[in-house]
Amino acid sequence: MRKIAWRSPSNIALVKYWGKRGVQIPENPSLSFTLQASFSEMEISFEEKKGFDMDFYFEGKANEKFKTKIAQFLKSIEENYTFLKNIHLQIHSKNSFPHSAGIASSASSMSALALCICSIGEEILGEKLSAESFLQQASSLARLASGSACRSVYGGAVVWGSTPALPAASDEYAMPLPFEMHPIFQDYRDTILIVSASEKSVSSRAGHALMNHHPFAQVRYQQANSNLVRLIDVLKNGNTESFADIVENEALTLHGLMMNSDPSFILMHPNTLKIIALIRDFRAQTSIPVCFTLDAGPNIHLLYPEKWKEAIQKWIEEELAAFCENRYYIHDCIGKGAELIQ
Ligand code: PMV
Repeated sequence: MRKIAWRSPSNIALVKYWGKRGVQIPENPSLSFTLQASFSEMEISFEEKKGFDMDFYFEGKANEKFKTKIAQFLKSIEENYTFLKNIHLQIHSKNSFPHSAGIASSASSMSALALCICSIGEEILGEKLSAESFLQQASSLARLASGSACRSVYGGAVVWGSTPALPAASDEYAMPLPFEMHPIFQDYRDTILIVSASEKSVSSRAGHALMNHHPFAQVRYQQANSNLVRLIDVLKNGNTESFADIVENEALTLHGLMMNSDPSFILMHPNTLKIIALIRDFRAQTSIPVCFTLDAGPNIHLLYPEKWKEAIQKWIEEELAAFCENRYYIHDCIGKGAELIQ
């Protein structure tokens, strides 16, 4: 059997994608930082053989739940990727972070899967794409597997979804921010504070569906568009105060939308709010530009410039770790994007 393997990172959205239509088309543009330490590795051995067959191993053990999910996804794309109709795959997947860390792994794992499928396609069809077209195709395929995964194939700051602010941006695939960010943002850090390691109580599919009849949906989509325009400006000019305003507003809006949707979800934990209060106090007292964002869950992503790393990491250990499950947190930072490892 031939073999291909990709390592692909997770990403953290600063302007959130929440609400979709059609085939994974976002209702508003989003912007994320790609991470470095939080990644998935997927290795696929493949053989052209009659019919489709697949084995799936997660962290060395056969996993039927993931196998079914991935087999369904591959079936759904076989009209465009016809080589998948007659192929046998053996997939090994693992994450750099513990499965029980409460970190969503769909962005990293589904982008790794899409990259592997595109590489296998190149090998079987004997057609090598340019690096740019390859990543665009992989991003588009990753989007079909899990929306936010389309941003993980690129490093740095990544935009997905059409916006008048960036004419090349598309709803179908992500693209790296087409300019260099202010130096303060280039090596930004993200410490993920694991407030709860439990599984999410609302799936992202159900979460997006809440927006379909949400009374604030249209206003939210306008707000996301204007936050994106403001954030693009901030990433150019290096204003960390405005960065904190926009990013925290996005995180709290996401949770607000979940709280006032029908049915309603409260995904923050009491310790999430305690930590948010401590972050705001610390920022007011020290003028150190640290801020937070949240995914659709209770864990906090603490964002700060590299130059404040020592002071902030000391403060995390002394004050914030007490509010994390088993004092657990993960230091991460902006990364370079996906990487072919075999
Ligand atoms: O990619 P999905 O369908 O898991 O949705 C991700 C939604 C958020 O993480 C809350 C926001 C985002 O843009 O990543």
